[in-house]
Amino acid sequence: MAKKQYNVGLIGYQFMGKAHSNAYRQVNRFFDLPAEIHMHTICGRNEANVSKAAANFGWTNYATDWRAVVENPEIDIIDVATPGNTHAEIAIAAAKAGKAVWCEKPIGNTLQEAKDMLDAVQANGVHHAVFHNYRKAPAVSLAKKMIEEGLLGEIHHFRGVYLQDWIADPNFPLVWRLQKEVAGSGTHGDIAAHIIDSARFLCGELSEVCGLLHTFVKQRPIAGEIDDKMGATASDKMGDVTVDDASMFLARFKSGALGVFEASRFAVGRKNKNSFEINGSRGSIVYNQERMNELEYYSNDDPKDLSGFRVIQATEASHPYAGNYWPVAHIIGYEHTFINLVADALVSLHEGKAASPNFVDGYENQRILDAVERSSETRSWIRL
Ligand SMILES: NC(=O)c1ccc[n+]([C@@H]2O[C@H](COP(=O)([O-])OP(=O)(O)OC[C@H]3O[C@@H](n4cnc5c(N)ncnc54)[C@H](O)[C@@H]3O)[C@@H](O)[C@H]2O)c1
Repeated sequence: MAKKQYNVGLIGYQFMGKAHSNAYRQVNRFFDLPAEIHMHTICGRNEANVSKAAANFGWTNYATDWRAVVENPEIDIIDVATPGNTHAEIAIAAAKAGKAVWCEKPIGNTLQEAKDMLDAVQANGVHHAVFHNYRKAPAVSLAKKMIEEGLLGEIHHFRGVYLQDWIADPNFPLVWRLQKEVAGSGTHGDIAAHIIDSARFLCGELSEVCGLLHTFVKQRPIAGEIDDKMGATASDKMGDVTVDDASMFLARFKSGALGVFEASRFAVGRKNKNSFEINGSRGSIVYNQERMNELEYYSNDDPKDLSGFRVIQATEASHPYAGNYWPVAHIIGYEHTFINLVADALVSLHEGKAASPNFVDGYENQRILDAVERSSETRSWIRL
C-alpha cells in the first residue's frame, strides 16, 4: 500500500530554508518511515529568487505570498523559516487554517507572541514542532539516554556556551539579526536559545535566573543584499544596533543543579562552539557541536589509575539516529540534525502524537529568554 504523503509549504528560502529543504528531500531516503514528505511549495517575497530556490532545492511549486500557501487546501504542514517578526502571524494563521505548524526558534519575538502561538496551536488542535535541531545530534540524544539511565548520577552542574565571532568586526553590516524589531533579541534569542534547549532537554526545568546582556558595537553600516550564510553587503550609511551582542546568565534548576550559560558573537576564534559540560555524582559528559560526532564521557566508577575522559564516537548503529546513515565512524554533519528532527516530527504527526520538541518547549524556552532579559534590566534574580 502506498504511504500517506504530507504536503509541506515552506516559508523562507535562505539559510534555514536550505537546511529544511535538504531535510525534506533526504528524510525518506535515509529513514524507513510510515509516511512520506512531499515538497509541495516554497515561499519567498522575491519571485526570481524563490523560483531559483524551488528549482535548486527540489520543490514542486513556488509562491510569493505566504497567505496563499497557508490557505492552500493541498498543504498539510506549514514550516516557518523566516525571521522572528513574521513567525507569530504566519504560525497563528496556519493553525487557524488547520495545518500542522513546524516553526524555527525562537518561536516568537516576545513571550506574549510565543504564548499566542502556543494558544493557537492548542485551540485549533493542530500538530506543532519547533526546530531545536541540536537535540537531534546522535551524541546529544546519547547524552540524554545516559543521563536517563543514571550513568551521571545526580546532576550538579550544567555549563553551556554558544560562541561565535562573525560580528566581532565593527564594520560587519547591520543585518536583520542585529535589529530588535525583526529579530526580537540578538545573540540571546539566536544562540543562547539553543543552549537553553540543551539544558532543558538534558537537565529539566530551570527555577530562577540572573543574567547580563551587553552590546559592544552600537552602530554599524546599514546592510544591503543578504546571503544564505548570515553575511551581507554593507552601505556607507550607519544605523543603530538594537540588540545584545553577548548574553550570560546563572541559573538554578528545579532539580537543585546549577547552570552557567554564555552566548556571544564576539568570541574571536570561536566559529560555532555550541558546547556543554554536565557534571554529575557518577560522571561527566562534554559535547561540542564543532566535533558533533563525539561525546566525551568520564566515569567515576573507573579504577582511579585508569580514569580519564574517553571519547565515544556516536556513530554506532545502536546510537540514536546513527543507524539510519553510514557504517560506524563514517560521520554525519550539521544538516543531519534537521533530517533527524523532520523524521521524528513526521512520525509524530502521522501517529497523532505530540512532537518533541514542540511549541510547549518553544514557549518554555522563551520564558527563560524573557526572564534573563528582565534580570539584566533590573540587575536582579528572576524566579520562573
Ligand atoms: N535551528 C537553527 O540552527 C537555526 C539557524 C539559523 C537560523 N535559525 C532561525 O531560522 C529563522 C530564519 O533564519 P535564517 O537564518 O534562515 O534567515 P535568512 O535571512 O537566511 O532567511 C530568511 C528568509 O525569510 C524570508 N522572509 C522574510 N520575511 C518574509 C515574509 N514576510 N514572507 C516570506 N518570506 C519572508 C527571506 O526572504 C528569507 O528567504 C529565524 O527564526 C532564525 O532564528 C535557526
